[in-house]
Amino acid sequence: MRAVVVYRGGPPEVLGLEDVQTPAPSPDQARVRLRAAGLNHRDLWNRRGYTGPGPLILGSDGAGVVEAVGAEVHQGWAGREVLINPSLYWGAREDAPGPGYQILGNPMNGTYAEAVVVPIANLTPKPAHLDFVAAAALPLAGLTAWRALFTQGALRSGQTVLLPGIGSGVAGWALMFAKEAGARVIVTSGSEEKLARARGQGADDAVNYGDPDWELQVRQRAGEAGIDLVLDHTGEKTLPAALRLVRMGGRIVFLGATTGQQLILNLRTAFFKQVHLIGTTMGSPREFDEMVAFVDSHRIRPDVHHVFPLGEAVEAHRLMEAGRQYGKIVLSIAE
Ligand SMILES: NC(=O)c1ccc[n+]([C@@H]2O[C@H](COP(=O)([O-])OP(=O)(O)OC[C@H]3O[C@@H](n4cnc5c(N)ncnc54)[C@H](OP(=O)(O)O)[C@@H]3O)[C@@H](O)[C@H]2O)c1
Repeated sequence: MRAVVVYRGGPPEVLGLEDVQTPAPSPDQARVRLRAAGLNHRDLWNRRGYTGPGPLILGSDGAGVVEAVGAEVHQGWAGREVLINPSLYWGAREDAPGPGYQILGNPMNGTYAEAVVVPIANLTPKPAHLDFVAAAALPLAGLTAWRALFTQGALRSGQTVLLPGIGSGVAGWALMFAKEAGARVIVTSGSEEKLARARGQGADDAVNYGDPDWELQVRQRAGEAGIDLVLDHTGEKTLPAALRLVRMGGRIVFLGATTGQQLILNLRTAFFKQVHLIGTTMGSPREFDEMVAFVDSHRIRPDVHHVFPLGEAVEAHRLMEAGRQYGKIVLSIAE
C-alpha cells in the first residue's frame, strides 16, 4: 500500500510517499481501507519532533471501509463504512485515561495511508449524512471539543462561551456543538475573513484579537452576565487574557499550547475570582459515541477548508503551519 512516512523530525519536506507493507490485523483488530485522513495540529508536533526508531505513518483521523478483521467473531464489521476513534486504550475511568493510553498516529502507525490497522473497539459506523472527507474531519477535533465543552466545561444552554482562535479545527467543532446546544458563542480570530465565516456558522459575536482593545470588546459583548466558559487551545498568549475575561466562578478549559506552554499566572486573580482551571485531552469511548450520535442527530457538517490528495501531504502541512485555514484540512485517498 502507499503511505506517507516520516523517518526523522523536521520541516514538511521530511514527509515522503512510499510503498510499504500492508498491515495485517491481530485478532482484536480490523484493517480499514481508508478513503480520507484528516489533519490535526498534533500531526505537525509529531512530524517536527519525531526521533524514531524506524519509519512512522502520521495521522490520527481516518474514515473508510473495513476490509479485513483479525477474528471471525468480528466478521459483522467487514465491508462497513466507518470512522475511527483515535483515542486508543483509554481505560475504565471517565475522569482521565489510564496508563496504556495512546493516540493513533504515534507510536501506532496512523491514517496517512491507503490502509490502517486499529482495535475493533475504535470503529464507529460513519454517519450517513457525512461523506468520507467530512467524516475524516471529525474524530480527534470533535472528540476534544465535546469533552472540553460538555464534560470538563459543563456548558449549559443559555450560557456564554468564548472560543479564541476560531480558525482552529477544535474551535470550529466547538462552535457548532455549542450553538446546537443552545449556548451563546463569542469567537476571536486574527483574520477578518475567518470572523465572517464564524458569524455565518452562528457565532453571536466575533472579535479580532489583532485589535488593541480586543479584550474590552469581548467584555462588552459578553454583557453583565459575563463569560461562563473559555475553551483555550493556544496557551501562553491567550490564557492570561482568558483569566481576566472569565466571570467570577467561571471555567477555563485548556487543551493546547500552540503559542507556547510556559505561563506566568496571576494567582490572586485566579483564586479571588474562584476560577476553575481544567485541563483536558481527547475523550473516552463513551464521549466519542455521544459526540458522533449528536453530530448524526443534528446533521452537523464540518467546515472543510481544503482537500489534498494523499501524495500532497507536504502541501497540506505547509498550509496548516501557515495557519491560513478555517476549519479542517483533509487528505483524500483514492479507492
Ligand atoms: N489536548 C488535546 O486533546 C488536544 C486535541 C486537539 C488539539 N490540541 C491542541 O490544540 C491546538 C489547536 O489544534 P488544532 O488542530 O485545532 O489547530 P489548528 O487547526 O492548526 O489551529 C490553529 C489556530 O490557532 C489560532 N491561534 C494562533 N495564535 C493565536 C493567538 N495568539 N490567539 C488566538 N488564536 C491563535 C489561529 O486561529 P485564527 O486563525 O482564527 O487566528 C489558528 O488558526 C494545538 O496546540 C493542538 O496541539 C490538543
